[in-house]
Amino acid sequence: MQSSFDNDTIRKIIENVDIVEVIGKEITLEKKGKGYFGLCPFHNDNNPSLSVSREKQIYKCFVCGEAGNVFNFLMKFHNISFKEAVIRLANEIGISLGDSFQVKPDKNKIYYDIYDITNKFFQNNLLSSEGAKAREYLANRHLTMEIIKEFQIGLALRERDTLTKLLTKKGYDLKILNELGLSSNDYDAYIKRIIFPLFNTNGQVNGFSGRIYNGENANKYLNTKETPIFKKGENIYNYHRAREEVRKTKFVILMEGFMAVIRAYTIGVKNCIATMGTSLTNDQINLIKRLTNTVYLCLDGDNAGINATLNNGKLLENANMEVKVIPLSDGLDPDDYILKNGGDKFISLISNAISYNDFRIRQLKKGVNLGSASEKADYVNAVLKEISLVKDEIKREIMLKNLAKETDIWYNTLEKKLNELLQSQETTKIKASDVSKKPSNKKDKYEKTMQLIIYYMLENKDFITLVENSGVYFPNENYRVLAREISYFYDKYGYISIADFMSYVEDNKSLSDTFKEIITLDLDSSVTKEVILEYLDVIKKYNVTLEIKRLEKLIMEEVDFDEQLKISNQIRKLKMGSEDNND
Ligand code: UTP
Ligand code: MN
Repeated sequence: MQSSFDNDTIRKIIENVDIVEVIGKEITLEKKGKGYFGLCPFHNDNNPSLSVSREKQIYKCFVCGEAGNVFNFLMKFHNISFKEAVIRLANEIGISLGDSFQVKPDKNKIYYDIYDITNKFFQNNLLSSEGAKAREYLANRHLTMEIIKEFQIGLALRERDTLTKLLTKKGYDLKILNELGLSSNDYDAYIKRIIFPLFNTNGQVNGFSGRIYNGENANKYLNTKETPIFKKGENIYNYHRAREEVRKTKFVILMEGFMAVIRAYTIGVKNCIATMGTSLTNDQINLIKRLTNTVYLCLDGDNAGINATLNNGKLLENANMEVKVIPLSDGLDPDDYILKNGGDKFISLISNAISYNDFRIRQLKKGVNLGSASEKADYVNAVLKEISLVKDEIKREIMLKNLAKETDIWYNTLEKKLNELLQSQETTKIKASDVSKKPSNKKDKYEKTMQLIIYYMLENKDFITLVENSGVYFPNENYRVLAREISYFYDKYGYISIADFMSYVEDNKSLSDTFKEIITLDLDSSVTKEVILEYLDVIKKYNVTLEIKRLEKLIMEEVDFDEQLKISNQIRKLKMGSEDNND
């Protein structure tokens, strides 16, 4: 099995980390009954179908069938090798690894070290005498020292090479500083700017954004260029801080810029994140999905913000997420809105967030002259189309009534039109599902029985010996090998657990796929010995049936009469034998 399989290490890790915690760091998990559930990151999930078991230290998705132990999760989630997953977890719990696991230190570590030093340097600058102007600017924007500390806001100095000097003195190569966008041509890339550090999903600083504050004539914000550890389209501001809060609120608020996020934080709304003024990318949507399936869009109240709301809403809906909108009036952004109207007003806007559909209808109505018959008809048809997309029947009826009232068109006419629309959508849906029909992978009775036997071998060690002693031959190779390897593992190590065995078969794709299928079965955890014996008997009889079939085929091909007679006797015996067993 595993070429780099070091059972002691694997076992030690599995015993010392908790899969619920490890996965919980990456996606939001919720406790339900005995288990933990979250949105499956391995398919386009809209209902928490990933189940994580603390007891068994495994995860499984009931929809896409992805399953495994803590290593499998990290491998698949971060697209890393088994070895890398082992190293990662070993480092986390501080156990040392054998020679086969020694690798050179993380290449990115040096980048993060540099950013860390830089971040502290900027923060100190803000507190220096040169920082007085910047502190004044921040105070004017109603940012307290406490908030400045929390968001680690800093300052890049006037002098053109303070940071470059500091870092090169510490031994960092100028080439790396250029690569990281901190220096260019021996000089600091950031001067005279208020600095907002940017963080990756783990909370490590991976970039900076610097704002002008002294009336300079330059781009308002200067961002870190793309580096090995920073891609603008993959970063989300405040992701790591919002994570805990989203667990409580169960939704995330998406904003355009970081000042909005910081402002919301000051009034206790801490589940906000922001793109950096750009349209959402798929990478960002996937990151958001790890937090929650419900997104409230709170973008700027200007035209650009409205268009961004329409676009981002569509992208999120296409990703099967639930989208609501917090519309801001008068072109304000959340920061301005809160400063102007107060935190309580903003908080009540959140609780009055409207559905994405309602928001679209509102937009449709803008500038429409209901006095003009053709404009009115276009408007009604557009709204009907929106209503047809609403899943909830009662909601559709309410929306339809409103439309009837608003346009003075007879309700029944609208209803008839809506039903026509719904009908035509239904037919396209059916056609689409015809095309996407997957070949069914239904298991026959015998395969199912073999799966059950293997499942219970792992649940109860006694059944391992029971299966071994029964001498039953599994006609399907994958099940046969799995049963054999389970026995082997147990004999060799004196224990067995699903999580450990999972890593053991990891490097054999077909075997580990079969095994994943088995552990995703949701079965009773205890059965009696008698039940297992019955299962084994089913397989025994199946083998007999298979043997009879084989012999019958042989008879047809045999030309020698004596040989034919011999075979037919064999068949008769087999048939009698299986009848004997039948009582
Ligand atoms: P905004 O122009 O809305 O800035 O850009 P803001 O958040 O309101 O900031 P203040 O209040 O003027 O200080 C939204 C986001 O777009 C990105 C930034 O990430 C900003 O937070 N942006 C904006 C840039 O990257 N560069 C710019 O020059 C401007
Ligand atoms: Mn602003």
